[in-house]
Amino acid sequence: MITQLAENVFWAGIVDWAIRRFHGRELSTHRGTTYNSYLILDEKKVLVDTVWEPFAQEWLDSFRQVIDPAKIDVVVANHSEPDHSGALPLLMQACPNAAVIVSKRGAESIPGHYHRKWNLKAVGTGERLPIGRRELVFIEAPMLHWPDSMFTYLAPDGILMPNDAFGQHYAAPFRFNDQADQEELYEEALKYYVNILTPFSTQVARKIDELLALNLPVTAIAPSHGVIWRKDPLQIVRHYQEWAAQKPQRRAAILYDTMWQATRRMAEAVGDGLAAEGVPYKVVHAAVTDRNDALVEVFRAKAVIVGSPTLNNGLLPSIMPLLEDLKGLRFKNKVGAAFGSYGWSGEGVKLIEQHLAACRMPPAAPGVLAKWQPTADDLEKCRALGRAVAAAVLKNG
Ligand code: FEO
Repeated sequence: MITQLAENVFWAGIVDWAIRRFHGRELSTHRGTTYNSYLILDEKKVLVDTVWEPFAQEWLDSFRQVIDPAKIDVVVANHSEPDHSGALPLLMQACPNAAVIVSKRGAESIPGHYHRKWNLKAVGTGERLPIGRRELVFIEAPMLHWPDSMFTYLAPDGILMPNDAFGQHYAAPFRFNDQADQEELYEEALKYYVNILTPFSTQVARKIDELLALNLPVTAIAPSHGVIWRKDPLQIVRHYQEWAAQKPQRRAAILYDTMWQATRRMAEAVGDGLAAEGVPYKVVHAAVTDRNDALVEVFRAKAVIVGSPTLNNGLLPSIMPLLEDLKGLRFKNKVGAAFGSYGWSGEGVKLIEQHLAACRMPPAAPGVLAKWQPTADDLEKCRALGRAVAAAVLKNG
């Protein structure tokens, strides 16, 4: 349902209640998502971003209620990822002569995705496009979260359309933040930040400083996913500043997998040691827990403690994706530790420790290895590991 944001400015997107995996199968979206597209009707008729291709026809038909797509003069493609650009081929059949505004990097990536000859116009930060009573101002935002990412600001309305930044994978009945369940909204905003933007935290902090220095009035932040921040719109900017600083809480995440419960018993004993020192933690069984949710626990925690039995001279396969993410998401300001059981070769703990070191998570204490099922002495070593990690968390936290 088309929703008005301001006079002649509309949300014209799609709410996808059903999607549960995004980026192919990479990202879980328990609460669905939206693909937000914005329509601005001035002397020039402007569309900012499109939707994912499976919804292209439905989307085009829906905004036909407000304007015939053939009358669109300007299409802004803030980012080329197909959830936002996927409907461009269908749209451009309706308005083949419209200017397609892209960032300089978008001038490579949009043709790279679609191989069509559209009327592309590349813009840089600070470039303005008058569209009648209003103007569009463009701000390149490389690596928030692709090289081509760009923000579009609508003056004088003060509406910032930052594409993926400040978004949430959150299907909701209403379009604005003040109409949403705040707990759900922030769970999704944080999960989105953790899984998509954490590696680019330095760029996020820098871009926010740049934006705030421009002193642009902001009446709404209208991202490309989820609800639009109109009530205290800068609240999400303040949260991004906090998340980008990567100052974890005084808590721990214990990530493990187990074959015959030995490593599970060790995980729980490590937890007992943390609890004895008053440090909260979550125990995450990697094989039965959503990976993206587990990463939120990692993000929040000062300590990341990883356990696996040794299998085939390595680790249980369910642990590997999480270890890849510990590296790829470039978490900062954390300490690590390792534990696990073994039957004969026993390399698991050492492999985890090497990986944590490569992720710049220095060991809070040496790892604990137990042969077959842990003995009472092994479990006491695990509790001691928990206490040592707790000391590091409380010291550095
Ligand atoms: Fe929502 Fe980077 O696409």
